[in-house]
Amino acid sequence: MASASANGAHVLVASNRGPVSYALDESGELTARRGGGGLVSGLSAIGPEAGAVWVCSALGDGDREAVRRGVGEPGVRMLDIDAATHADAYNGIANSVLWFVHHMLYQTPLEPVFDAGFRRQWASYEAYNRAFAEALAEEAARGAAVLVQDYHLVLVPRMLRELRPDLRIGHFSHTPWAPPEYFRMLPDDIAAQVLRGILGADRAAFLTQRWADAFTDCCQAVLGGPGVPSGTRIGVHGLGADADFLRRRAHEADVDERMGSLREQIGTAPDGSPRRSIVRVDRTELSKNIVRGLLAYEQLLEDRPSWRERVVHVALAYPSRQDLKVYRDYMDEVQRVASAINSRYGTADWTPVVLHLKDDFARSLAAYRLGDVALVNPIRDGMNLVAKEVPVVSDEGCVLVLSREAGAYEELGEDAVVVNPYDIGGTARALHEGLSMARGERAERTKRLAAAATALPPTQWFLAQLRALDD
Ligand code: G6P
Repeated sequence: MASASANGAHVLVASNRGPVSYALDESGELTARRGGGGLVSGLSAIGPEAGAVWVCSALGDGDREAVRRGVGEPGVRMLDIDAATHADAYNGIANSVLWFVHHMLYQTPLEPVFDAGFRRQWASYEAYNRAFAEALAEEAARGAAVLVQDYHLVLVPRMLRELRPDLRIGHFSHTPWAPPEYFRMLPDDIAAQVLRGILGADRAAFLTQRWADAFTDCCQAVLGGPGVPSGTRIGVHGLGADADFLRRRAHEADVDERMGSLREQIGTAPDGSPRRSIVRVDRTELSKNIVRGLLAYEQLLEDRPSWRERVVHVALAYPSRQDLKVYRDYMDEVQRVASAINSRYGTADWTPVVLHLKDDFARSLAAYRLGDVALVNPIRDGMNLVAKEVPVVSDEGCVLVLSREAGAYEELGEDAVVVNPYDIGGTARALHEGLSMARGERAERTKRLAAAATALPPTQWFLAQLRALDD
């Protein structure tokens, strides 16, 4: 059993992607890039006296080189796990199996494939989780609180509990949780291992009650007996938007500059008035349902010709998980469908779809500020923070067209125009309703959405998890 180090950390976070990453340029120079998000603001709020440590994975050549050179940030321990093991665990198991199960993305007849190759990748996933558990066991002070994040690390709580029974361990799922009928597609032993891994924690927490209930149902269906044992508590913390940060950041000069160029691309209608815009901002991720969103927009133009030349769909679809062919193909499909709409309906001075593929946070904020309608139509999503960020920064009010399958629906459903994400015709009608909404109502709804979206800002979300572990 590993022993608690005398001056170990009292609060630890573990996640695949850490708060910092390194880029390696041709001259061998390393540049650090710091990320944002709920965990970063939460950890900065508890202050350095907690001696917090964040254990994460080295994710590219820059990160690996940083680890080798001993370059790093205080409080961040990056694990340089063998590249092939990491690829199997991250691309193979986490992103192609667990992500697909929870977002219900498999397409029969070919998927899923649980064969010998899957078993080899699963062994890598176990090794990857073990590396995290061992690092956490080394870094933690006696009785420390350890917050393990997401589907990459579901085996860590149990492994860590065995190494260090003195620790208080929480696991947080940022994804949806699949209902038992879908979850049980996993081979029985793997399904049980996933659940027992998380149940090694004192507390398993989720973004919404719906995902927490699905987890409980899976425990009952797969493990039998009482399902969730009495030693593990279930919690729900609906991560909200960071209003202070967003409002400040959304008014910096680079965002104003991006608004200028987006406005130019949107242009003016034949009567000289500014065109309306339907905006969306996503990782180009299968679960985000970008293609059906484009098809719904096309249907709108087809069914209601009066919108032609009067509206533009601004789709910001940033690259994600490009090591996986299915994501690269999806990116191609998004581009293909967008240009088909443009060739079919576009005119000399109207481009119906403006598609940007280069990740640019300032441009996202610019789109949030100027959009008349925001389309958030995932087929399943743990929360979806875009739905929460848009109302916070919108300049003049923005109608939220929201999928009922996004976690955010639980908190925002009342003031959004709600859609079934599979229903292209229904989504087209929702876009029309959004574009037609009176300005006054739109502004009122946006105000209420912003209040609901910021109910549990990132720092409070993080502290609530820590407090709950103390109880
Ligand atoms: C989701 C997951 C996160 C993940 C993020 C980006 O939000 O819940 O854990 O970090 O997607 O995906 P990536 O694979 O680039 O880390």
